[in-house]
Amino acid sequence: MTARPRRLARIAAALAAGATLLAVTGCTQQGDGSTSHAASATATSTAPLRTIAAKAGLRVGVAVNTDQLADSAEYAKLVGQQFSTVTPENVMKWDATEPKLGTYDWTAADQLVAYAQQHDQLVRGHNLVWYQQLPAWLTAAAPSMSADQLRQVLKDHITAEVTHFKGKIWQWDVVNEAFDDTGQLRDDIFLEKLGPGYIADAFRWAHAADPDAKLFLNDYGIEDAGMKSTAELQFVQDLKSQGVPIDGVGFETHVDSTYAEPDLETELMRFAQAGFDVAVTEADVRAQTPIDADQVKTQSGIFADTVSACLDVPQCISYTIWGLDDKDSWVPSTFPGTGGATLYDEDLKPKPQFAAVQKALARGVATAKKRVK
Ligand code: XIL
Repeated sequence: MTARPRRLARIAAALAAGATLLAVTGCTQQGDGSTSHAASATATSTAPLRTIAAKAGLRVGVAVNTDQLADSAEYAKLVGQQFSTVTPENVMKWDATEPKLGTYDWTAADQLVAYAQQHDQLVRGHNLVWYQQLPAWLTAAAPSMSADQLRQVLKDHITAEVTHFKGKIWQWDVVNEAFDDTGQLRDDIFLEKLGPGYIADAFRWAHAADPDAKLFLNDYGIEDAGMKSTAELQFVQDLKSQGVPIDGVGFETHVDSTYAEPDLETELMRFAQAGFDVAVTEADVRAQTPIDADQVKTQSGIFADTVSACLDVPQCISYTIWGLDDKDSWVPSTFPGTGGATLYDEDLKPKPQFAAVQKALARGVATAKKRVK
């Protein structure tokens, strides 16, 4: 695969930005302007991502497995040390929060929110409406509910959850993966029973419960130009023009490194120019196992490019990685034969992908003035 001109430009920028990384990590240069390899390696391994990202005006996040957070001191330490925003990987989803109709369980999600507050982190709430991980009672009952009944159940769920966390959530993924792979609204139980208006309703109900939270539509497969991203852009523009309280669009960014790299920056920019905040919400970069050094290089380059894409778009307010480490990643069980998709290995040691993200963030420090918070 030949590198695209844009990638080459970034490699050049990366080399030029070496000094920036040293500056933000507090490493001093020798009198002759050179820096020893050892000094630069130390700087690279000790500068937390969140510290560098803050200087670039960006929040960097991770999807948290709350069982690991409770059980592993090392896992918990890294989550607090490296990231300035957290996303619950599963514990704010409908099946976890409303195990019986009208009976709520916030225990695990509350623990994560408390952890985030103790570590000066913001929370991405994920998610309020999704066709997956619905509670069994809802999946069983929904087909025989009337539209009014299902609308009420949906409204009650969104209102209860957003009210419970009012004032504690920075961004909510209000509706998750609402489009299918062809760019049509997904033919799920909500569309079937309620029609497309359920999406506008969901945003209005969420806004009524917490007017200060930023409300996002979150999806995969919109990281490159195509039918899906074009349809979704049109859709959110329509929502906005109708006065629906939507603030942003989340780009999941689950990348398979064996395929052509998505042109994420162009897509982030298209949505940003239409007046939306954007965020990279679930970044991971998988490769076919066993993974060799060349694949690691490719994965590292893709991570760096997606971080740079976000940094280059002032409205890109956060960059979140889906899972702290390869042991806890959803990738191997979801895409058999692939793995290695996160920044840390199975023993919680940082991989070259970590250093690549670190360097890409450092490059953003130079352009920080252009960014909005
Ligand atoms: C995944 C979790 O990582 C898994 O643990 C769970 O079994 C299934 O869901 N898009 C999303 C996330 O929006 O919520 C999904 O998370 C990954 C794909």
